Amino acid sequence: MPPDWPEYRGEPLRLGVLASGKGSNFTAIVQAIGAGKLPAIVTGVVYNNPEAPVRERAKEAGVPCALINHRDYPDRESFDAAIVQTLQRWGAEWVIMAGWMRQATTVLLEPFGSRILNIHPSLLPSFPGTRAVEQALAAGVKITGCTVHRVILAVDQGPIIAQAAVPVLPGDTVATLHARIQEQEHRLYPPAILWAAVQE
Ligand code: GRF
Repeated sequence: MPPDWPEYRGEPLRLGVLASGKGSNFTAIVQAIGAGKLPAIVTGVVYNNPEAPVRERAKEAGVPCALINHRDYPDRESFDAAIVQTLQRWGAEWVIMAGWMRQATTVLLEPFGSRILNIHPSLLPSFPGTRAVEQALAAGVKITGCTVHRVILAVDQGPIIAQAAVPVLPGDTVATLHARIQEQEHRLYPPAILWAAVQE
């Protein structure tokens, strides 16, 4: 079960989203804000793949978006510096990785401290890395799920904020299992952002 919504009396959270692909978690966050559940503003979306569908989703939602393509930078540090500059220009106070497929450096981590969150499609610490759903299926686990955690330099190892369990069903493929995990991701991420804020 995703967590309940915590009580929060502060200012709306200013979220900068980083996304590389579809952007369904971005949309879930925007919808939670629209529904009045998540007191936040998405200040903008940074995406790194020119063809990423998240771009259209951001446009539909009326959220500013910026293409920052890692292929245009000589190293990960200069790429992250460009991201930080854009996030700061938007006045983002939180970094929300939503299907962000790049490894963060200290250049991105230091300005935001513990205010960087990621969602991962497994019950961490099981199955870190980019093939979590495939590996869970191959391992024959009967329960997997998703995790929202704070981001640290070590990939997929930061402090856990919230998790949701998803049973592995007979006949599951990577696609069917990932689709059910994503349903839970969309329920989990918005309240987990607020939990991260109240835990500060
Ligand atoms: C999600 O499954 C997330 O856990 C992983 O990448 C996927 C992104 O999906 N890190 P979307 O782009 O939000 O639809």
